[in-house]
Amino acid sequence: MIEVLERERTFHLSTEHTSMILHVMESGHVVSLYWGGKVYGKEFSYIVDELKKASYLAWTDGNRNFRLEQYPVLYPVFGNPDLRSPALHLRYEDGSRITNLRYSSYRVLSGKQKIPGLPTVMDRSEDGKESDEATLELVFADRSRGIRLKLLFSVFGKHDAITQSAVLINDSKGSVWVEKVMSACFSFLADEFDCITLTGAWAREFRRTRQSLRQGKFLVDSRRGASGHGQNPFLALTDPGCTEDTGNVYGMNLVYSGSFEASVEVDMQHNTRMMMGIQSFDFSWELHSGEEFYTPEAVLVHSDRGLNGMSQIFHRLYRERLMPPNWAERPRPIAVNNWEATYFDFDRKKLLDLADEAAGIGAELFVLDDGWFGHRNSDGSSLGDWKVNEEKLGGSLKNLGQEMKERGLGFGIWMEPEMVSPDSDLFRAHPDWIIAAPLEEPQVARNQYVLDLSRKCVREFVIEAVAEILEGGVIDYVKWDMNRNITDAFSGELFPGNQKELMHRYMLGLYGILEELTERFPEILFEGCAGGGGRYDPGMLYYMPQIWVSDDTDAIERLRIQDGASLIYPSVSMSCHVSAVPNHQIGRITPLKTRGIVAMQGVLGYEQDLTKCTEEGKKELAEQIGYYKTVRHIMQEGTFYRLRAGENDYAWMHISRDGSEILAGYVQVMAKPNTVPERLQLKGLEEKAWYALEGTDIVRTGSQWIHCGLELDQSMEDYHAVQWGLRRVEMP
Ligand code: DGJ
Repeated sequence: MIEVLERERTFHLSTEHTSMILHVMESGHVVSLYWGGKVYGKEFSYIVDELKKASYLAWTDGNRNFRLEQYPVLYPVFGNPDLRSPALHLRYEDGSRITNLRYSSYRVLSGKQKIPGLPTVMDRSEDGKESDEATLELVFADRSRGIRLKLLFSVFGKHDAITQSAVLINDSKGSVWVEKVMSACFSFLADEFDCITLTGAWAREFRRTRQSLRQGKFLVDSRRGASGHGQNPFLALTDPGCTEDTGNVYGMNLVYSGSFEASVEVDMQHNTRMMMGIQSFDFSWELHSGEEFYTPEAVLVHSDRGLNGMSQIFHRLYRERLMPPNWAERPRPIAVNNWEATYFDFDRKKLLDLADEAAGIGAELFVLDDGWFGHRNSDGSSLGDWKVNEEKLGGSLKNLGQEMKERGLGFGIWMEPEMVSPDSDLFRAHPDWIIAAPLEEPQVARNQYVLDLSRKCVREFVIEAVAEILEGGVIDYVKWDMNRNITDAFSGELFPGNQKELMHRYMLGLYGILEELTERFPEILFEGCAGGGGRYDPGMLYYMPQIWVSDDTDAIERLRIQDGASLIYPSVSMSCHVSAVPNHQIGRITPLKTRGIVAMQGVLGYEQDLTKCTEEGKKELAEQIGYYKTVRHIMQEGTFYRLRAGENDYAWMHISRDGSEILAGYVQVMAKPNTVPERLQLKGLEEKAWYALEGTDIVRTGSQWIHCGLELDQSMEDYHAVQWGLRRVEMP
């Protein structure tokens, strides 16, 4: 797992299929020699020894033959003669920004350690299974400045992933200001890469964006106080010809939900450096004497099996090592949510009528969305006043929950605890609890302010207000929403010189709240939401095992959104609902069957007014739900493959954990005239095993389904969808 080659001054981190090789040079700089498919051997330093000396780069340590800038420096620090983008930028009391960190020692620790205050991929060895996780700690020191840096690499052997994070320690007598500190950085002695990111906006999250790299710097980031709809904290470099199933991919994903940055730089010497961490713009952290600063961690995944290979590694790691263990494996309830059915306009009767219908079609959970508290009948008031509006509900929340239980349904509620409405008792009592700049009228967005979670008293309020609602055992699920980003970044509690700490302190505050609430209420299923996928990241998945992928519930829009999200996030983390037609976001009319098949790619739910459905419609819904109950384990725990992701057609499949059951889905967006017969090739089946196509008497070998494919029904309808189930059988 972690081999230390003392004589070669080399560390070999290996997972089942990959290697990462780090080397300490004579100068005490550490370089990354290799990351990719598994290699064997002891001596790798020739990779840098063979570098031809470039001109016009600064000498290092007075040596004209040693120019650090052309080396694949593992964790570049501002001030060294490496003038490319640094991973670390410090400022000292005397005004200097020059840091000279050199390697000092290492330790190999068994398992994976939790980062204080931050969500992390975890060592689950205590769950009884044998742990193959280990951590390499590399320590660097700048003795004249009294600064130490620890880089932590945790290797997840069976999961084929490595996590990286950094710890800064101030051993000096004064303060040091951290202007930039990345979680992970990797440099390649090559520049022939494509770069894939996930971009978008509200209601169109997770667009795959691919471009070939050129000399210069490419950045994706968020300054919003949330990972954001615009860019996911993810970046992958690939071979230029990399496909879904072939080629090398190097993916990085940050376990963090706040402002971040991820960059790739191709330098003058045709080398490429990728890095990721907390947003450095408007960030500055005062590290007092004796203090430590922990970065969030980044997950590094290499696959030589193309994008599907990378996705499968992320999916398995997140299911088995990141998401709350008691929820990751549990069948996720099929929800009926009242949002698009009623918006704010509901009363007890409407809710119970909806619940009757929900129970009638076989749903398992009723979710009461926004509008049940304070006097909130629009988005104009009451956030922060988490007192049940008993008049509107015709009784207590507990009583309503009991009604749901009597109908055989779990009961869930919506909350947005990070916010406060100007029109609320909370704001009237504590106007100073919001994030707002002095001398400025604070900006509202969706009629609300953001609570300053960097403040202890605010955090305590949030925890107690939420806990009071959740206590009593009637709530099974919480949709934790966040409907605006942070502007006016200023905290009344921080000193003027420390204001740039706010965005990160907010995240630490939020994580502290979630840590406490999820520990206090382990049986409650938390679903993350931020106006859809505005904060869909591994940091949130650590607390909330499912996330509302997008406010766009149109099946055709969802194809693209879910396809992008599937690059990193497992299907079981994607909350996907069937909604009414014409669709509320885009006005499109799609068949119910298509909406069902698209939503069954993830955790199925419904958000339409079931009381308006025809008997025939309800029958179809009940059939959808009945079928999903028989296959949800395939989606939840299985291996996912993207089969097609074109402009006009999308196809995907899941193979159950034991390999015996397969569920595949296909959607053709627009009908095409004069088509030629087409076949859909499946993936990942055992070549020689036999698989029966459900509903038919066709039995073929895995190799036949893979190479010869399934016949696609060439429908003349737009938005046409098909779903197939296959089952492994004995040779006929
Ligand atoms: C935004 C969410 O994404 C919606 O699903 C809904 O919960 C609203 N907020 C409620 O205000």
